[in-house]
Amino acid sequence: MGVPQFNFKPLSDSKVVVLTGAGISQESGIKTFRDSNGLWEEHAIEDVASPEGFARNPDLVYRFYRARRQQLQEDSIAPNQAHKALAIFERKFKGEFLLVTQNIDDLHLRAGSKNLLPMHGELNQMRCQASEEIFSVVGDLNASTICSCCGERGNLRPHIVWFGEMPLYLTEIFQALRKCDYFFSIGTSGQVHPAASFVAEVPYDAVRIELNMEQTPVSSMFNHGIYGRAGEIVPAIFDHALV
Ligand code: APR
Repeated sequence: MGVPQFNFKPLSDSKVVVLTGAGISQESGIKTFRDSNGLWEEHAIEDVASPEGFARNPDLVYRFYRARRQQLQEDSIAPNQAHKALAIFERKFKGEFLLVTQNIDDLHLRAGSKNLLPMHGELNQMRCQASEEIFSVVGDLNASTICSCCGERGNLRPHIVWFGEMPLYLTEIFQALRKCDYFFSIGTSGQVHPAASFVAEVPYDAVRIELNMEQTPVSSMFNHGIYGRAGEIVPAIFDHALV
């Protein structure tokens, strides 16, 4: 079966929202979450991705995110064809384009995406728990790091949305979803809300396309499903969308 083509009408009144998840970064060498017995890089998710885990063992959490940041700097980790295709599409497209990612890596940024909302936070940022101010991570970060805004030790935490916490940018995201003409969900398992229910927010006549390795619990809510490796199917759709 061939990959369907979509004519995105490069008009200023056409609106595209793309949601991405861990599957888009898998071919860049970053592990996904739900394919490894509930472990994230060998750790129980509740230990490294929950406020309770951080309170229990902050050193482990600081170490874990430091390792994730170091991984991003490895030579072998780079944006793949799917990240690049989205960035190129955004540059050429004359309508409104919003990219929402659940990923905390920086691969969309490095590929050149501009209108990007990282709804689960960013590995390369930290946040003061007293002031909510956000900083770029410089050097090491641990429980004794003194926060430059409040002067306290231990107030800086990874700027990551953990389980039980509210994702970021929801107002902007829901506004964009409710008026979009095309909604794409790429490389996400459809198991974590609210992202999994974004597809239910788009107008009834919007084109809804799921691109993933396999079907998900929300596949039936899309009117097109394209299944395969993101590095192949994303460029197949987006590279020719404007011609
Ligand atoms: N190409 C396309 N899809 C892929 C590829 C690939 N190369 N590799 C894996 N996938 C698909 C998997 O089949 C799966 O459906 O990507 C999806 C990845 O799912 P998850 O690992 O559950 O990641 P995601 O949906 O992004 O998780 C959402 O959950 O743990 C939290 O906050 C974390 O942002 C994360 C959120």
